[in-house]
Amino acid sequence: MRRPLIMGNWKLNGNKAVVTSLLKDLDAQLVGIEGVDVAVAPPVMYLDIAEKQINELQSKIILGAQNVDINLSGAFTGDISPEMLKDFGATHIIIGHSERREYHQESDDSVAKKLAVLKEQGLTPVICIGESEAQNEAGETLTVCARQLDAIINAQGVEAFDGVIIAYEPIWAIGTGKAATPDDAQRIHAGIRSHIAQKSDTIAKKIIIQYGGSVKPENAATYFMQPDIDGALVGGASLNATDFASIVQAAAKMKN
Ligand code: PGA
Repeated sequence: MRRPLIMGNWKLNGNKAVVTSLLKDLDAQLVGIEGVDVAVAPPVMYLDIAEKQINELQSKIILGAQNVDINLSGAFTGDISPEMLKDFGATHIIIGHSERREYHQESDDSVAKKLAVLKEQGLTPVICIGESEAQNEAGETLTVCARQLDAIINAQGVEAFDGVIIAYEPIWAIGTGKAATPDDAQRIHAGIRSHIAQKSDTIAKKIIIQYGGSVKPENAATYFMQPDIDGALVGGASLNATDFASIVQAAAKMKN
């Protein structure tokens, strides 16, 4: 049985007051919801106050981050290391988000390196994969996802995926309101799982595969009904405590 994970990716949003109040409101709304892990990835700048707030509330909310560098320390201007993230209690680290791949030219290889470093540091990578609109229309979705996974499998072996979370995020569905249909998402998730199963059935059965891309309270349950969708990576709707909590509630209802 895979324990569902709902993670909020706050992207480049918030300020000190918003981070504090959003965590407080969210924590209050999660009371009584069982059987689901909930994580948030604030901008790295706010990890300090987020960690303090989570501790003060004695909240079960897991702290995450949106990116990481491959180096632990040294002359790497502007970067943030896995050890720094750990220092602030962040455990679930998003890597390879399509916005990083697109705006910062992150390659499959650099994402693979980030995954390896995070694992060495005992952190949990949340690796985003997914196709563009053109690739989707050309029927290349699974090929693209397989290529993104193979960059890791070929370099590090399938064991690298042990304890990792995959977020399948069709790029055309991110922030657009054009979510993938639950049937399509299920088909791709099953394809991703079976790609991993070709190398390790045990890891494939265990691995959490989240769906991401315009998940909202209105459509969340339709995804969580699908057997291979184990949670969600939520952007826009995670900035509203009520909406995000209702997505968590939908996962608790459909998965337990
Ligand atoms: P969205 O973003 O929920 O706003 O579509 C998802 C994501 O980028 O992780």
